Amino acid sequence: MTGPVFDTAFRDALEQLLTWRRDVRHFQTRPLPDGLLDSLIEIACRGPSVGNAQPWRFVRIVSPERRAALIASVDAHKHAAGEPYCGDRKALYARLKLHGLREAPEIVAVFCDAETEAGHGLGRATMPETLCWSVVTAVHTLWLAARAHGVGLGWVSIIDPASMNALIDVPAHWRFVALLCLGYPERESETPELVRHGWQDRLPFETTRLER
Ligand SMILES: Cc1cc2nc3c(=O)[nH]c(=O)nc-3n(C[C@H](O)[C@H](O)[C@H](O)COP(=O)(O)O)c2cc1C
Repeated sequence: MTGPVFDTAFRDALEQLLTWRRDVRHFQTRPLPDGLLDSLIEIACRGPSVGNAQPWRFVRIVSPERRAALIASVDAHKHAAGEPYCGDRKALYARLKLHGLREAPEIVAVFCDAETEAGHGLGRATMPETLCWSVVTAVHTLWLAARAHGVGLGWVSIIDPASMNALIDVPAHWRFVALLCLGYPERESETPELVRHGWQDRLPFETTRLER
């Protein structure tokens, strides 16, 4: 069986998708169409995983009380994480919007099932961390699939991972990986928000590539 042919037009479109994928913190409140979140998560599950373990577990947050608890926790951690900064950077940090948990129509918590039997341990003996890395590949796949539908995704990590299992009521052996906000972005940009706000520029390509 031959697979699809990806032509130049597709490659150009893919590059555009990668260029215009953004971490989104400013969301419209309008809901996603019925079923879209599930189909995006289904696509995310086509990501690669060590031993084909597929350890990703996606939890859609539907309880308003849980959403409120997440907002309170992230706001508190954002405040605490700002303590070490001083001067202009402290002021800049205070102005950064680091999550869209209040407005985003969908919030998804992503965990890694650290005790999954799927994959039969293949590849995990030497590098057990590859199990959680596999979940990150699924998150990135979700990010791109969402963007292809015009849906923005924001990754929120300013939270205490140890508190997440109890807060979300999932098994203790699941490891928290990511909290995601999804929804239609208020605006599109080719430039990351942290670059636009002068927090961190993109690094020159040459500094990221070596030969030995
Ligand atoms: C593992 C990970 C954790 C992140 N955590 C946060 C976060 O807590 N809050 C936030 O605003 N952005 C977070 N981001 C988004 C980054 O700030 C963003 O990817 C980066 O600034 C580049 O922007 P871009 O994704 O729009 O290209 C996170 C991204 C990754 C990959």
